[in-house]
Amino acid sequence: MPARCDVVVLISGSGSNLQALIDTLQAGDNPARIRAVIANRADAYGLERAKAAGIDSQVLDHKAFAGREAFDAALIELIDSFTPQLVVLAGFMRILSPDFVRHYQGRLLNIHPSLLPKYKGLHTHQRALEAGDSEHGCSVHFVTEELDGGPLVVQAVIPVRSDDSPESLAARVHVQEHQIYPLAVRWFAEGRLHLGPQGAMLDGQPLPATGHLIRT
Ligand code: GAR
Repeated sequence: MPARCDVVVLISGSGSNLQALIDTLQAGDNPARIRAVIANRADAYGLERAKAAGIDSQVLDHKAFAGREAFDAALIELIDSFTPQLVVLAGFMRILSPDFVRHYQGRLLNIHPSLLPKYKGLHTHQRALEAGDSEHGCSVHFVTEELDGGPLVVQAVIPVRSDDSPESLAARVHVQEHQIYPLAVRWFAEGRLHLGPQGAMLDGQPLPATGHLIRT
C-alpha cells in the first residue's frame, strides 16, 4: 500500500460528504486518513460526525476575523499544524482568497453540486430545472483561483425526471456525491491523481475536460 496520505476536511454544515469519506476509510485498505475536520461555524453538524468517528475537530469562526485575508491566514496556520498532504472542501461555504488557493495548489479538492462548468455558485438544482436540463449531477475538481472553475477530476451524471423538484434532485445528486468524492480522494491518496500543468492527470494520463465521467 502507498504511504499514508493525511487529509484535512473543511466543512460548514451537515457534513454528509465528510460522513461518506469517514465510512469508506473504515474499510482499511485506503491510504487516506482524516487527520482533522475544521468548520467555520460552531453549529456545523459535521463536527458531531467527526467527534463520533474519533477525529480531531476544530472551529475557526470567520466572524472573529477582520476580513477574508486574516481569516484565510489563520486557516492556513491551523490546517498546516496537521501537515496534510491533501485538503478537502466538503460543503465549505466560503470563497477562498488567492493566497489560500495558491498555498494548496495541487492538493486542494472541492465538490460542487452541478455538472461544471454549468451552474457555478449557489442554487444549482433549481437552476438546472429552470433551464430544462435533461441531465444534472455533481463534480469533483482541483481548486484554482477561479470560483468553481478548476480542472475536473470526476463527474457523476444523473437523468432529470419530469416530476423532479429542487429537493428531489438534490437528494439524488447527494447520493452520487457520496460515491465520487471518496473515489477522487482515494485516487489522490494512492498517488494516481495529480494536477499537471495542463490539468488533472490520472495514472499519468490527462483526464478529459469533463473529468472521469460516471453515468447512472
Ligand atoms: C454538497 O451538496 C456540496 O456539493 C455543496 O454543499 C453541500 C454540502 O453537503 N458544495 C457547494 O455548493 C460548494 N460550492 P454536506 O455538508 O452534507 O456534505
